[in-house]
Amino acid sequence: MKPVNVGIVGLGTVGSGTFNVLTRNAEDITRRAGRAIQVTHVGARRDNPAADTSGVKVSRDVADVVADPNVDVIVELIGGTTLAKDLVLAAIASGKHVVTANKALIAEYGNEIFAAAEAKGVNVAFEAAVAGGIPIIKAIREGLSANQIQWVAGIINGTGNFILTEMKEKGRDFADVLAEAQALGYAEADPTFDVEGIDAAHKLTILASVAFGIPLQFDKAYTEGISKITAEDVSYADELGYSIKHLGMTRKTDAGIELRVHPTLIHKSRLIANVNGVMNAVMAMSDAVGPTLYYGPGAGAEPTASSVVADIVDVARTLTTDPDNRVPHLAFNPNSLSDTPILPIDQIGTAYYLRITAKDTPGVMAKVATILSDSGINIESLLQKEVDVANGQVPIIMITRQVKEQSMNVALEKIEIQEEVVGSVMRIRLEQLDG
Ligand code: HSE
Repeated sequence: MKPVNVGIVGLGTVGSGTFNVLTRNAEDITRRAGRAIQVTHVGARRDNPAADTSGVKVSRDVADVVADPNVDVIVELIGGTTLAKDLVLAAIASGKHVVTANKALIAEYGNEIFAAAEAKGVNVAFEAAVAGGIPIIKAIREGLSANQIQWVAGIINGTGNFILTEMKEKGRDFADVLAEAQALGYAEADPTFDVEGIDAAHKLTILASVAFGIPLQFDKAYTEGISKITAEDVSYADELGYSIKHLGMTRKTDAGIELRVHPTLIHKSRLIANVNGVMNAVMAMSDAVGPTLYYGPGAGAEPTASSVVADIVDVARTLTTDPDNRVPHLAFNPNSLSDTPILPIDQIGTAYYLRITAKDTPGVMAKVATILSDSGINIESLLQKEVDVANGQVPIIMITRQVKEQSMNVALEKIEIQEEVVGSVMRIRLEQLDG
């Protein structure tokens, strides 16, 4: 059978990884795909010493790759949502299939891109956009297709997980660890995307759509970063039996769908609480199979290339199949997508870790407990640390039972105006992840 001609646009970390994996494993890939897959054109503004492209056509203007009539599949690895979007839409318009690792592009413009692709009968594959090398899109979209999925929770930003792990295990400084993640090529071009949870929210938006069959709605995701987590919080959580992780959580409830990324306490007995460093993990709870957990590297050249190349193999197979009988982009047929609303964050229910700094005076604990009880908030455990002799202040740490966020907001406002309470209350949501 005629080889599949691939054009790679972008020769950075993932582009060079993809080029190298396709070249090195060409024989096995051909055996799997049933035909050769060859890179015939690369678009890159500059060479990358990590990939030897000699013998392959290289264009400095990346649009030349999309315009090349000999290219069957465009692999978009330049990132961003401006030029990448134009190139992907141009590729679709010219009847080419697309493989992309671009989570921002899919989360923000996926609805438009998939509609264009479906109208044209081409595929847009995006396995590498979520959790790097873990084949999580395929697992949820195809492997769990028998199930009603109840929730999906994931550690889906390697940089954030690396930072939290190093802070916990080595007491390292936040900025110092972030600089190392950037040097290792894990962090986004704008590292606030990692630290503030935007990158994870892009990925979670995609996971929610393939899990629940809803349109992509990144603008409705709640996003909270990890930059306010202190070494004390990490240590107090540990003392209470929990790890703090930057978790993406999407859950289907009777009222709507939760879509949220925030620091989260997870009991140390859960496997996912022990996912450390740059590794990612995604846990899904489904009605037939129950809990499943997927673990692996969430970033890096060849782990991400592993997903990109798997998508190229899938696309190579679909070149000869009926466009109406392909796996739908978002798992459910486009005309069966649901309009279940995304819930605002104050309508979700979780348990909480609270850290209250108070003046060491009699009755303060009783006041706090009364306010919580008046709001219907049940305290599960309590930790009172020693008084700081320098300022006479004492940290009070609590774990509460599950409560609607709206009620917690009201209670915290009342606590924060008590004269014995110093500054704002630190609140971190807590998930049981037990179904
Ligand atoms: N910046 C991302 C991360 C890269 O750290 O997980 C992979 O999407």
